[in-house]
Amino acid sequence: MALLEIRDLSKSFGGVQAVNRCSFDVEEGTITGLIGPNGAGKTTLFNLATGFYKPDTGQVKFQDKDITSVAPHRVFHAGICRTFQITREFKEMTVLENLMLVPSSQLGERVFAPLFLNRRVHKQEQEVYEKALQVIEYVNLKHLANEYAGNLSGGQRKLVEIARAMMSEPKMILLDEPGAGVNPTLMKKLIGYIRELRDERGITFLLIEHDMEMIMNLCEPIIVMSEGTKLMQGNAAEVRGDKRVLDAYLGGQHGDS
Ligand SMILES: Nc1ncnc2c1ncn2[C@@H]1O[C@H](COP(=O)(O)OP(=O)(O)OP(=O)(O)O)[C@@H](O)[C@H]1O
Ligand SMILES: [Mg+2]
Repeated sequence: MALLEIRDLSKSFGGVQAVNRCSFDVEEGTITGLIGPNGAGKTTLFNLATGFYKPDTGQVKFQDKDITSVAPHRVFHAGICRTFQITREFKEMTVLENLMLVPSSQLGERVFAPLFLNRRVHKQEQEVYEKALQVIEYVNLKHLANEYAGNLSGGQRKLVEIARAMMSEPKMILLDEPGAGVNPTLMKKLIGYIRELRDERGITFLLIEHDMEMIMNLCEPIIVMSEGTKLMQGNAAEVRGDKRVLDAYLGGQHGDS
């Protein structure tokens, strides 16, 4: 079953057609890869799918519901969580605080919650705290729980992003270059976490990545974008063997073919 349906999406910025009539499905339970040369429109597509941009044309459906142009926080509550190409943790807060801050439908976030709710709020805060500790332990960041996020390495920040995504128990996670700046050891762990989250919690992934080893190891299917649209889709072997993909990466699409 298609969990996320991208239909005919387009978005231009001034004269730049960032996404151009792009369509594809992400099937439930898959770790789907989204690759393509720099500027192919991958991040813009994420922004369109999660309500950060409004498309010029097309439709986004999640679990059969139309979520086109729905505000980001509502997309989040629908069960889609995303990470950013440039990590967005709060540098002045600790790792633990960063996780506890993940928005949810917590009672405690209702600013005007009546006083008599206080005890329930307190209990929920305790639950969020315990959950944050569990997640921190899961991604092996326990020794850094009270470290300021600003002091972490690039790779550790990527882990915090994944951990933040896990806090909300989403149905689907969109990852924008989770492997960028991550050392090979951490990369193996990262791949392990993603696989485990899919296998054990049934979370569906759509993952943008330039690291071909990560993509080829982890993702099936792999969707290739070029010049704002889907060029092809297939498994690792099919993508590797496709001349159009090679041409797109070499800039061959501008050639005489
Ligand atoms: N907010 C924006 N304003 C103007 N142009 C934009 C904006 N966002 C993206 N673009 C342009 O749209 C095109 C697609 O950009 P996008 O960031 O989606 O590519 P990408 O596939 O994610 O590339 P990369 O692999 O380098 O991250 C590029 O030409 C980019 O310059
Ligand atoms: Mg990008």
